[in-house]
Amino acid sequence: MYFQWYPGHMTKAKRMMQENIKLIDLIIELVDARIPISSRNPDIDALGQHKARLILLNKADLTEDQWNDQWVRYFENLGYSVLKINAKKGGSMKSIYGVIDEACKEKKERDRKRGILNRPVRAMVVGIPNVGKSTFINTLAGKAATKTGNKPGVTKGKQWIRLNKNVELLDTPGILWPKFDDAKVGLDLALIGSIKDDILNIEELALALIDFLQAHYPKVLPKKYGIEEKTNGIEVIQGIAKSRNCLIKGNEWDTEKACKILLDDFRNGRLGKITLEFTKDYD
Ligand code: G4P
Repeated sequence: MYFQWYPGHMTKAKRMMQENIKLIDLIIELVDARIPISSRNPDIDALGQHKARLILLNKADLTEDQWNDQWVRYFENLGYSVLKINAKKGGSMKSIYGVIDEACKEKKERDRKRGILNRPVRAMVVGIPNVGKSTFINTLAGKAATKTGNKPGVTKGKQWIRLNKNVELLDTPGILWPKFDDAKVGLDLALIGSIKDDILNIEELALALIDFLQAHYPKVLPKKYGIEEKTNGIEVIQGIAKSRNCLIKGNEWDTEKACKILLDDFRNGRLGKITLEFTKDYD
């Protein structure tokens, strides 16, 4: 599959982050809980060397908790602080300040030894497009947050948001790009809807989803569209067309429309909570 890619934006975003990284104590990296590996950016580890790290498993409401919990443990074992959240709901982030505190305890200890007391943690939020950075910042900052104005050394125009007396966020979310050149990453991103469908082969995508569902969630297609478990991909698409009465002129089934229905149902959670990546494949 071929995906459009934007080297200009990518370079600019990376430069912005490199310029500001020295001011940052903590990198808050959002990943999509449905594809925690494919939605990571390979540059963040290099960019964030010597910084405290927190991974937020966002959109956790779209996946099953048993897999979310395994991903939390997976990243914790790699040394990250981790929290699963639904950025749309403040309630899911109740423990975030405690987790930030924990992630930054070494920095706080260093500050204490130097006699610096109560300096707020400065955090930068990063992630690939559409992972939920703006939603996260808006939900967390809400109306109570005050912009604290420019600080010396910060790229002009950058604002800090004081979340409370302990945490400040750099308000421009750092946008980093996924590893588009990896076919699996491209497929995963396309399935969750992060890549526009008009540049994709919709049928190929639907067939890949059917394959995955039949292997990992065999009850989903029968339950939703009344299709038998072991039906082959093309027949599943025809079955969806029949069940949704998608006809084109004459008496032919509109398979393209059926593919769109399937992908749409998946992306909007109408097939239930579905995880596309499992920790066992990354041990
Ligand atoms: P970005 O800044 O990283 O690019 O992402 P943004 O916050 O714009 O979020 C992208 C989409 O993901 C938005 O949906 C947003 O509502 C949704 N979203 C963010 N966090 C969560 C979450 O934890 N759970 C769920 N289910 N969705 C989440 P949209 O359809 O583009 O916009 P809208 O119609 O919701 O406003």
